[in-house]
Amino acid sequence: MLLIIENVLSKEEVQQFRAHMEQATWESGSKSAGTLARSAKQNLQLDDASELATGLRNHILRKLGNHPLFVSSALPAKIYPPKFNCYTNGGAYGTHIDSALMPIPGTNMSVRGDLSATLFLSEPDEYVGGELVVQGIEGGQGIKLAAGDMVLYSSGYLHQVKPVTQGARIASFFWVESYVRDEKQRSILFELDQTIQQLTPKLSATDPELIKLTGLYHNLLRCWANT
Ligand code: NI
Repeated sequence: MLLIIENVLSKEEVQQFRAHMEQATWESGSKSAGTLARSAKQNLQLDDASELATGLRNHILRKLGNHPLFVSSALPAKIYPPKFNCYTNGGAYGTHIDSALMPIPGTNMSVRGDLSATLFLSEPDEYVGGELVVQGIEGGQGIKLAAGDMVLYSSGYLHQVKPVTQGARIASFFWVESYVRDEKQRSILFELDQTIQQLTPKLSATDPELIKLTGLYHNLLRCWANT
């Protein structure tokens, strides 16, 4: 699954994020890569423990929690605290696969990466290169979105970020553990939920078939969700 979710952040919010980030100190991104991925990763990251990163991360988490398309498609049980990176001066992240289990720093919890997300914070015309390429998935070629837009894709695919040869590509990235681990089941639930959302304005809220259909959605979710 690969889904583009537009306007996770408004342009005003992006501007505020960027203004804060200009004050920040960036550190080498290889610190947080797994052993194999480390050699492939050449970028900069914000210090996760900084007050700045904490504030920005919490803002993204609040927005995601209220975003109907994100909630419907990801059915998020846990979200890894969003991180921030910057690719510049030829920086790239070669082909790799994201770790399956990610311990959340400072806790004894882990997030199983079912879905990976990149929220773009630079406009496409601010840099050259920097495309995200997800292999073997429809729509996975040359992803470069407007600032504030996000791509959400199944974590089980090889992917890379192409070298940024001019300018800087700033983004936030994180992983989602879904209540519904199976991709097919999750996509059936997503399609059903979207269909119900599209039918709702056309029918009365007391329409018996609409109520039944909503019941079917929840009963399927009851069968498939793991808590
Ligand atoms: Ni990755």
